[in-house]
Amino acid sequence: MGHKNTFTLTFLVITFIFLLPVFSNTPPKATPFKRMLALVQQEPVILKYHNGPLLKGNVTVSVHWYGHFTPTQRSIIIDFFQSLNTSSATHQHHHPPSPSAFSWWQTTATYRGGPCTLIVGDQTLDDNYSLGKTIKTTELISLASKSKKTSNSNNIHVLLTASDVEVEDFCMNQCGTHLPGRVEKGKTVYAWVGNPMSQCPGECAWPFHQPLYGPQSPPLVAPNGDVGVDGMVISLATVLAGAVTNPFSNGYYQGVESAPLEAVSACTGIFGKDAYPGYPGNVLVDNTTGASYNAVGVNGRKFLLPAMWDPITSKCKALV
Ligand SMILES: *[C@@H]1O[C@H](CO)[C@@H](O)[C@H](O)[C@H]1NC(C)=O
Ligand SMILES: *[C@@H]1O[C@H](CO)[C@@H](O)[C@H](O)[C@H]1NC(C)=O
Ligand SMILES: *[C@@H]1O[C@H](CO)[C@@H](O)[C@H](O)[C@H]1NC(C)=O
Ligand SMILES: *[C@@H]1O[C@H](CO)[C@@H](O)[C@H](O)[C@H]1NC(C)=O
Repeated sequence: MGHKNTFTLTFLVITFIFLLPVFSNTPPKATPFKRMLALVQQEPVILKYHNGPLLKGNVTVSVHWYGHFTPTQRSIIIDFFQSLNTSSATHQHHHPPSPSAFSWWQTTATYRGGPCTLIVGDQTLDDNYSLGKTIKTTELISLASKSKKTSNSNNIHVLLTASDVEVEDFCMNQCGTHLPGRVEKGKTVYAWVGNPMSQCPGECAWPFHQPLYGPQSPPLVAPNGDVGVDGMVISLATVLAGAVTNPFSNGYYQGVESAPLEAVSACTGIFGKDAYPGYPGNVLVDNTTGASYNAVGVNGRKFLLPAMWDPITSKCKALV
């Protein structure tokens, strides 16, 4: 796959205003915003399957940390990965039972080809900013591939950039991306997500931060107490779901190949029931910390995970 076709996790707010009308393949009307308030729940979202391979079976996720992340930040994200393959998420007695992050990921198994089990592989750290603090899109793959490949298995090489790393197009039109790699003995896909905290929390850490544009609702309290990293979890969830269901730009998506709406990006902005543009929906709240969440993972972690398109019902499915 020589050509580069990035999935773009588009700004939430821009999506609300400009992309939702595209769901219906009708030209945007002069007052798209009013239309959309009615559209969020009703518009049929249909991701078409384009006959290409998906990532199924055991998929090794290797992680390259670029720039400074604290050990706590790294453990939030590694716990998130591990929560996707662990069915026995620990439920705390004092909280109502809540859906697991594992059950969220299980929806990917209903896309053709059966389950996909993510296994965290090697992690590499680059605290020294070896390519500087400004990264071009063309450098993303070489950075992502610094994490080791596990031969003969399917791989996702994930590059995570710290909040002080400026990545080309980060914040301009994307919070993260995935790129096709090789299809040999094992299939390889590259993914990148940046910490938006100091660059664009209003775009890439919503709903934990006030949105930059559009309808405003009060920000939610981030479940792991880190607005930037909890925002990265949402972007990672989006990118990972897209990476396994549309790894080579010919899997499941709606719209055009160069700007596809994928498993989660087709459901942008929905986290719970009754979501509408600017309002993430009704989610669970931890009475002790005030944090909003809709999924529980390993080590008692809580996450707020975005709705995912469910091929069985052809609807965006939120966990709560
Ligand atoms: C995935 O890995 C597990 C444990 O290593 C193994 O038992 C299982 O057969 C593997 N599944 C596939 C589809 O290769
Ligand atoms: C949390 O607070 C809400 C509203 O005050 C209440 O309805 C709910 O029962 C509480 N949950 C727990 C587990 O205490
Ligand atoms: C889940 O991931 C962990 C590490 O990421 C791995 O040790 C474990 O074998 C995986 N479980 C399954 C069922 O693959
Ligand atoms: C990072 O830079 C420090 C100081 O320049 C150096 O001592 C260290 O070896 C470097 N680490 C890596 C992994 O290159």
